[in-house]
Amino acid sequence: MMNMTLVVGASSGLGRQIALSLVARGDAVVVVARRRELLDELVQEIEAAGGRARAIACDVTDPEQVSRAVALVESTDGPIERLVSCVGGGERTTIDGFRAAQVERMLSLNVMGTANCLEAVLPGMLRRQRGHIVAISSLAATRGLPDAPEYSAAKAALSTLFEGLRIDLKSRGIDVTVVSPGFLRGSMKKKRRPLKVPLDVAAARIVKAIEQRRRTYSFPKWLAWSLAILRCLPPTLADAIVSVVRLRKVRRTQESGASPATAAADRLRLRTVPTTSELAGHPFVADKVLAIGTETAPHRVE
Ligand SMILES: NC(=O)c1ccc[n+]([C@@H]2O[C@H](COP(=O)([O-])OP(=O)(O)OC[C@H]3O[C@@H](n4cnc5c(N)ncnc54)[C@H](OP(=O)(O)O)[C@@H]3O)[C@@H](O)[C@H]2O)c1
Repeated sequence: MMNMTLVVGASSGLGRQIALSLVARGDAVVVVARRRELLDELVQEIEAAGGRARAIACDVTDPEQVSRAVALVESTDGPIERLVSCVGGGERTTIDGFRAAQVERMLSLNVMGTANCLEAVLPGMLRRQRGHIVAISSLAATRGLPDAPEYSAAKAALSTLFEGLRIDLKSRGIDVTVVSPGFLRGSMKKKRRPLKVPLDVAAARIVKAIEQRRRTYSFPKWLAWSLAILRCLPPTLADAIVSVVRLRKVRRTQESGASPATAAADRLRLRTVPTTSELAGHPFVADKVLAIGTETAPHRVE
């Protein structure tokens, strides 16, 4: 019997690529997002390649819509064996434009969107005493990052939520996998950037982790480890390192001829960069640690 996987956030990006990879390995997929025409194109592509798929347009921040969508799938296509929630995303923000509503938007999309899907599929899985929940979080969950603190906070909430649920669900026959990718490279046509993992590579790694039913999967490893180490450092030092990494990134953006708006926002950000003498006071500041997030960092493909 074919596994039925509900892939949420499948109209573009990582979710679309994961849906294609799962179908290539024999799953049937129900692809969910708001943009119906993109979902229909994806279903056509899957069917043309001999796979089985169905599209459902739905806004996952609305629990009513999600519950109706899941009921429809289970009554016509059979039980949902696996939920892969890729729904989410973030925006670059500035401290001058801070809005509580932005925090709410990030939580609604990145946390509540997945929680609504979980609520809808969970009763069936608990009844059958089997299932698999996959939540796509981010390495940005490891610590609060400047320029997108709302996104970091939302992904941290998502990872922590599923970490907490994992133990109870395991004893009821349901596995949980939390995936935390680093930077992804959307379009295959875009310039190659060593820091960014191409989408097809990311999807292949994630599907492998799904098949192995891993509890967590973070990649690329060098970035996951760097952020984990950063988390263990004293906050003053960790903040200083993040500021220096950002300074380097801003300089690179400026050298590459950024738009006036980006350059102006970056000038504001530079005010928060520590002075060299502030950094020199720290015994652990070494080139190796400061290389986090630079173009010269290794990009490992497993
Ligand atoms: N890109 C990266 O560098 C990166 C890095 C780490 C983690 N991630 C995470 O990976 C996941 C996918 O990212 P991506 O870059 O592939 O993003 P993306 O291309 O923007 O895809 C997001 C998907 O979510 C869907 N979606 C958004 N709001 C929705 C809603 N209210 N209801 C239903 N569907 C909704 C979108 O479709 P519609 O607009 O059609 O609804 C789209 O299919 C996200 O959780 C993101 O946080 C991304």
